[in-house]
Amino acid sequence: MRSLDDLLGEGVRGRRVIVRSDLNVPMDDGDITDDGRIRASLPTISSLADAGARVVVCAHLGRPKGERLEEFSLEPVAIRMQKLLGSTVAFATDVVGADATASVEALADGDVVLLENLRFEAAETSKDDAVRGGFAARLAGFGDAYVGDGFGAVHRKHASVYDLPGLLPHYAGGLVLREVEVLRGLTESPQRPYVVVLGGSKVSDKLGVIEALLPKVDRLLVGGGMCFTFLKAQGHEVGRSLLEADQVDACRRLLAGAGDRVVLPTDVVVADRIADAAEPQTVPADEILPDLIGLDIGPDTVEAFGRVLAEAATVFWNGPMGVFEVKPFATGTKAIAEAVAACDGTTVVGGGDSAAAVRAFGLDEQAFTHISTGGGASLEYLEGAALPGLQALGE
Ligand code: 3PG
Repeated sequence: MRSLDDLLGEGVRGRRVIVRSDLNVPMDDGDITDDGRIRASLPTISSLADAGARVVVCAHLGRPKGERLEEFSLEPVAIRMQKLLGSTVAFATDVVGADATASVEALADGDVVLLENLRFEAAETSKDDAVRGGFAARLAGFGDAYVGDGFGAVHRKHASVYDLPGLLPHYAGGLVLREVEVLRGLTESPQRPYVVVLGGSKVSDKLGVIEALLPKVDRLLVGGGMCFTFLKAQGHEVGRSLLEADQVDACRRLLAGAGDRVVLPTDVVVADRIADAAEPQTVPADEILPDLIGLDIGPDTVEAFGRVLAEAATVFWNGPMGVFEVKPFATGTKAIAEAVAACDGTTVVGGGDSAAAVRAFGLDEQAFTHISTGGGASLEYLEGAALPGLQALGE
C-alpha cells in the first residue's frame, strides 16, 4: 500500500486531498459521549493540513439509510474536530451538493472541511456497483488524491471506502497502517499464551471470528450478552437473558470442538430490569431464574478470567462483559478492562464499545499496547476476511 508518508513526500501544497475517516462516535442527544475516533483521526488530517493540502474529510455517522436525519448530522463532530485541532474546520451541510461544492472551492492551502454524513446519500451504501460508482465519481470531483484512514469502516463495500480510491491516486493513512500492523501481528505471530476475550450482545456477529480464532488461541474467554447462548448450548436455562435461539446449535458445535479453550462464566449478575435502580444479585451461571435477566459476569468469573489474563503474553479483547453503561452492571467490564491493562504482554482492545469502556472508566490508554478504532473491522481482519477498504488501497 502506498502510504500517507509517500503522499507527503510527493508534496501536497495546493492539492485537494480527500480523507475518508471513521468519525462514527457515540452520541447522546447531540452530545459526543466518546471522541476517541475523532482524536485517532486527527494526526492524518493535521499532517496534511500542515503540509499545505486542502483537506476534504468525509465520514459517516450511524445508519441513516439515505435519509437526511438531523440526529445523524456530523456538525457536532466538526465542532469537536475544530476544538481538538485548534484551527478552523469548515462544515458542509450536504455531501455532494451546492454547499459541499462551494466549501471545497473556498478551501485555501492548509484548510480543512468536513462534508455532511456520507450516509445521507443512499448511494454510499448501495449494493448496486453502478449506483455506488456514480456517487464515488461525484466525490472524486472534490479531490486530487485520496487517503483511506477510516479503519473502522474498511470492512464495508461502500462508495467512499471501496469505489472512490479507485478513481484517484490513493494512499493508506497513518491510522489504517498502524491498525493493520498491530492486527497482522496478532494473526501471524502472537506470543503465547494468546488469550482472546469476547463479549458484546450478539453471538451471531462473532461466530465467524470465533471459528477462525479457536485453532489459534490458548484461551477464549466469553462474557457479555453472547455468553447466554453458549450457556443455553450447555443445557442451562438463561431466564430472560439475551438469547439467540437459532445460534444454540452452532454454539454447541463450537464448544464440542474446542476442548477446554472456551471458558464461560461460572456466575452471573442478574436483575429483573436494566436500570440504575435495579437490584442486582449474583447467581451461579446454571441457576438463572425464569423471570431474571443476566446482565454482567459475576465475581468468581472475574477472578477466573483475571487469572488467565495475568499469565497471557498476548491479549485481544472485544466487547463488554455486561451492560456497562448502567452502573449496577458495569463491574465485570471494568474489572476485565483493568485486568487487560495490567497484563504485561501485548494487549489490543478491539472495537467501539470496549474502547469506549476503557475511556469511560478513566483507564490510562497508554496501559494498552493498542486501542483499535475498528469494532467489526478488527474482528473481520482477525477472521481473515478480505476487507474491501484495504483491498482498494492495494493491500
Ligand atoms: C463502526 O462503528 O464499527 C464503524 O463506524 C462502521 O459502522 P457500521 O457498522 O454502521 O458500518
